[in-house]
Amino acid sequence: MPLHQDVLWYKDAIVYQVHVRTFQDSNGDGIGDFPGLEEKLDYLLELGINAIWLMPFFPSPLRDDGYDIADYSTVHSSYGTLEDFRKLLGSAHDRGIRVIIEMVLNHTSDQHPWFQESRSSKDNPRRDWYVWSDTNTRYQGTRIIFLDAETSNWAWDPISTSYYWHRFFSHQPDLNYDNPAVREQMWNVMKFWLEMGVDAFRLDAVPYLVEREGTNCENLLETHEILKELRRQLDEHFPGRMLLAEANQWPADLRPYFGDGDEFHMAFHFPLMPRMFMGLKLEDRKPITEILQQTPEIPPSCQWSLFLRNHDELTLEMVTDEERDYMYDMYAQDKTMRLNLGIRRRLAPLLNNDRRRIELMNGMLMSLPGTPIIYYGDEIGMGDNINLGDRNGVRTPMQWSGEWNGGFSAADPEHLYAPLIQDPVYGYPAVNVLRQKASEHSLLNWMRSIITVRRSTAVFGRGSIEFLYPANHRILAYVRRLGNEAVLVVNNLSGTAQAVELDLRRYKGNILIEMSGQNMFPRVGDQPYLLTMGPYQFYWFRLRRV
Ligand code: NOJ
Ligand code: CA
Repeated sequence: MPLHQDVLWYKDAIVYQVHVRTFQDSNGDGIGDFPGLEEKLDYLLELGINAIWLMPFFPSPLRDDGYDIADYSTVHSSYGTLEDFRKLLGSAHDRGIRVIIEMVLNHTSDQHPWFQESRSSKDNPRRDWYVWSDTNTRYQGTRIIFLDAETSNWAWDPISTSYYWHRFFSHQPDLNYDNPAVREQMWNVMKFWLEMGVDAFRLDAVPYLVEREGTNCENLLETHEILKELRRQLDEHFPGRMLLAEANQWPADLRPYFGDGDEFHMAFHFPLMPRMFMGLKLEDRKPITEILQQTPEIPPSCQWSLFLRNHDELTLEMVTDEERDYMYDMYAQDKTMRLNLGIRRRLAPLLNNDRRRIELMNGMLMSLPGTPIIYYGDEIGMGDNINLGDRNGVRTPMQWSGEWNGGFSAADPEHLYAPLIQDPVYGYPAVNVLRQKASEHSLLNWMRSIITVRRSTAVFGRGSIEFLYPANHRILAYVRRLGNEAVLVVNNLSGTAQAVELDLRRYKGNILIEMSGQNMFPRVGDQPYLLTMGPYQFYWFRLRRV
């Protein structure tokens, strides 16, 4: 099927998040690039993913790893040329892999020519492209996001002797979305990349587009109207393309980003993610079932995107103070692991490198309702380096082999954009793709097989969910259903063996087929269905009437 024919493709996607600079360096300058990533597409294909999300690759002073964009219409020269990007896009499409790129709408770098003009004088035609003020006292109800780096959302500009508004670093001035020229320009930017053939955008920091006095300047109606207008343009000119919202908000505030199916196609489920880690530590399903019960229904064309880790700190913004303390105590006793309101660690170290817990968490990621996103390196259990500043500890080079620079680059190690992980447990001689490919029972091969099972049915991407509430609350069980198909998922969140009795009366007469081995389990009868489960074990069963 040509790539754009199925407009709901994102529902069946398995997304791999990768930063071009971290993946493969093709020219030996120590920085990953487009040709390097292109070389590795077959690796991704073998892993079973069918979409990649690329972090920002635009010209940038890289003071926020590219989320500070200085030019939206080309690529950063360290990563290659625009032609190299086009080639990568074509090669991905040839393999049936869709390409999601990043689009930062809310702010630019202070090095962007628009800001340079805007600050140059109060009557510059671009003055009104950013949010200026003579005082730093407006919009007092607005929280500060980068708490460890910033003390105000206003910064003083000595050149034009006034303050400008910024929700993130002070070198990232917010664009003024009340200005129609800004709105038009940003659509033109999106159009440029859509015409080139990109399949989707992850739209960064969307809750913050518009500011209004007396509000918290998040999720405003005016912001939603702007986003709806972008969607309208997208549907009119580029049907089949997709918008993914980065809105770190509570479920009730997230829901409006889907509109009536006329705003975003997808949005990250930020509140669920920390609660999966919480449920695991508490050995109790409640944090997970509770947040999913509080999650409103979304329009049929929409989809959640689920993740365990990404390039940022494991955010604890969408939890209560008590829950945050618990998470810090359990997962980041060492205070250097904490950043802003979160934990700057990768999946494997968070889970003490316990293979059973890593599998269980990935099993939930792949079976709860939504489209899973795998953060690069987590498929081999890469570690992190908390000695690197900010969020850089989870952005180290991909570990391909035990050879020179882990196979990432031919450069002198001191020229790499960041050092490879070297410690005895997670270092590249121990944790790498080559080694895991060769070992039948590696995490990599396990990930490949679970992705294959996930992709064997549309029920995980498109089906409904119904929770079962067995008396044993250490068990998280649910049935995913789509048409005549039903899959029962049973997760043991505890580190000890458990027995559970499931009420499957509604499926009386069905047999259970365990999906990874295709083995039959006893038929469902009148009695509660008894299962015994090892520590952190989980099952996916197809329910079949025979
Ligand atoms: C969210 C991104 O995920 C993060 O990495 C970035 O620093 C901020 N938005 C600002 O763009
Ligand atoms: Ca390079």
